[in-house]
Amino acid sequence: METQLIFLGAPGSGKGTQATRLENNKGYHHISTGDLLRSEIKKQSDLGIRVKQIVDSGGLVDDGIVLSLLKLNCDTKRYSYIFDGFPRNLEQAKSLDHQVLQGVDTKVVYFELKTDILIDRLKNRRTCSKCNEIYNLVTSPPKVENTCDKCGSVGLVQRLDDQPEVVKKRMEVFENTINPVLEYYDQKGLLVKVNAAEEVEAVYGEILKGIEDC
Ligand code: AP5
Ligand code: MG
Repeated sequence: METQLIFLGAPGSGKGTQATRLENNKGYHHISTGDLLRSEIKKQSDLGIRVKQIVDSGGLVDDGIVLSLLKLNCDTKRYSYIFDGFPRNLEQAKSLDHQVLQGVDTKVVYFELKTDILIDRLKNRRTCSKCNEIYNLVTSPPKVENTCDKCGSVGLVQRLDDQPEVVKKRMEVFENTINPVLEYYDQKGLLVKVNAAEEVEAVYGEILKGIEDC
C-alpha cells in the first residue's frame, strides 16, 4: 500500500503548482479532477458536453460524475497519488475514503491563504493546453513568451473560469463547502496546514516537512 496525498485549498492557492513539483521530484502521480473535467470538455465527449456549463460558470459538478471519473483514472493499490481538487465537500471526502482509499495511508495538506492574493494569481495564470503545465505571467512566466517550457507547445491559454466574476463564484463555493471537510480530516489527525502565501519554493518545503512529520 502506498501513501496517498490529498491537497485542499481555494482556487489559485497553488495545489496544481505544488502537485506538479511533487510529481516530478518524488514520483507521486498527480490527479486533478479539474484537469480531468477540462480534458473531457476539450474532447467534447458526452460527459464533457454535460459538465461544460457548470465548470465554466464555477459551480460544482455532480459528486457521482466526478467520483466515477476519478475512479476510472486511479489505482491506489499500485501508485501514490496526489488528489488535487477532490474532495470538494464532506460527501466526496467520505466517498473517497470508502470507495477509493479504503484504509490506505493518507495525508491531507491544506493550502491556507487570504482571498485577495488569489484573485491576482488567477488573473495572471496561463496553462499549457497540451500538458497542463502552470505558469504565472508575473511570478513564474515561461522562458519564451507564450511557449511551454516543459513540452515546447506554442499557445498558453487562460482558463475560462479565471474570469473575475467566475472566480468570485468559485471562491464562494469553496468557502461554503470547505469547513466540514477540514474538520473531517482534522478529527482523523491527518491534516497538515501550509502557508500558501509564501513563494513556491517555501511552500514546497513546508509541504515536504508537513507530510514527513504528520
Ligand atoms: P480545479 O481545476 O480543481 O480548480 P480550483 O480548485 O479552483 O483550483 P485552481 O486549479 O484554480 O488553483 P490551484 O490551487 O491549482 O492553483 P495553481 O497551482 O494553478 O476545478 C475547476 C472546476 O472543475 C471547479 O470549479 C468545478 O466546476 C470542477 N470540479 C473540479 N473538481 C471537482 C470536484 N471534486 N467536484 C465537483 N466539481 C469539480 O496556481 C494558481 C496561479 O498562482 C498560477 O498562475 C501559479 O503559477 C501561481 N502560484 C502558485 N503558487 C504560487 C506561489 N506560492 N506564489 C506565487 N504564485 C503562485
Ligand atoms: Mg489546479
